[in-house]
Amino acid sequence: MSVDFGLRGKVAVVTGGGSRAPGIGNGRAAAALLAEAGAHVVVVDSAPENMTATEDLIAERGGSCLAVTADVTDPDACADVVRQAWDAFGRVDVLVNNVGVAGPPGTVVDVDLDAWDRCVRLNVSSMVLMSRAAIPRMRLGGGGSIINMSSAVGLTGGHPGVAYPTTKAAVIGLTRTMAAHHGPEAIRVNAIAPGYVYTPMVHSQGVDDDAREQRRLAAPLAVEGTGWDVGDAVLFLAGPRSRWITGVVLPVDAGLTATLGAGSAPSVTSRT
Ligand SMILES: NC(=O)c1ccc[n+]([C@@H]2O[C@H](COP(=O)([O-])OP(=O)(O)OC[C@H]3O[C@@H](n4cnc5c(N)ncnc54)[C@H](O)[C@@H]3O)[C@@H](O)[C@H]2O)c1
Repeated sequence: MSVDFGLRGKVAVVTGGGSRAPGIGNGRAAAALLAEAGAHVVVVDSAPENMTATEDLIAERGGSCLAVTADVTDPDACADVVRQAWDAFGRVDVLVNNVGVAGPPGTVVDVDLDAWDRCVRLNVSSMVLMSRAAIPRMRLGGGGSIINMSSAVGLTGGHPGVAYPTTKAAVIGLTRTMAAHHGPEAIRVNAIAPGYVYTPMVHSQGVDDDAREQRRLAAPLAVEGTGWDVGDAVLFLAGPRSRWITGVVLPVDAGLTATLGAGSAPSVTSRT
């Protein structure tokens, strides 16, 4: 018996629903799983060619989707995405703000400031713009669920570039604040913080087999994560099975962030 996620007939918008290379990205997996659960999925990507494999995957799994080419850093384009979703399906229930980039290298001393601004716009402002367009339509439908893609490094820091973890931490602040603002109108807002997931984004950054193995072994479960692991978390947070959950940050990381506590420092209780 298949699990009912309560998403049949609902409308889900997934930004960055393509993948920049063959394989299963977080957005692609989320879009496919939402469609499989019966949602009408609006796949959004700035690169139309990146969406083709997502559309094929959804069709293979018996779902259907509407692919919309749009740059989610552009307020008018975001409004147009939501308008197209509304025109096609008459409602907007779920928004997955998945677009995010690795950002420029550098510390605060030497990061390129234009690239920093661009990273903030892509990783944080895009979520504001898409939510701003979608929330009025969610209100008309009596509520909704927004899922913002953060990262484990948004919780921990510890990344060579200042831009990526800073923007991913901002996503957490945005998520909690939005949850408080929009809870009274039955709009839930949660974040997912993936760990070392092996996706086309990671592959295209040149992570070789050795680095891939180190990433796998870094987390307690020592199992390599895929876009499907992130997509399953999206599926749970999207529908009524998580109806009492809002404002949380869900690490999907094989326990990676659980290892970053006091570490090997002597515990206080051992001295008493
Ligand atoms: N892979 C990991 O290990 C990992 C870890 C933590 C968090 N994440 C997060 O997951 C998210 C993305 O994952 P993915 O695997 O789907 O990435 P991906 O690179 O496979 O796909 C992202 C898609 O977003 C599209 N895109 C980029 N800029 C856009 C814009 N301005 N407007 C519309 N679309 C745009 C790209 O064309 C691409 O198709 C990001 O937020 C990323 O930070 C990934």
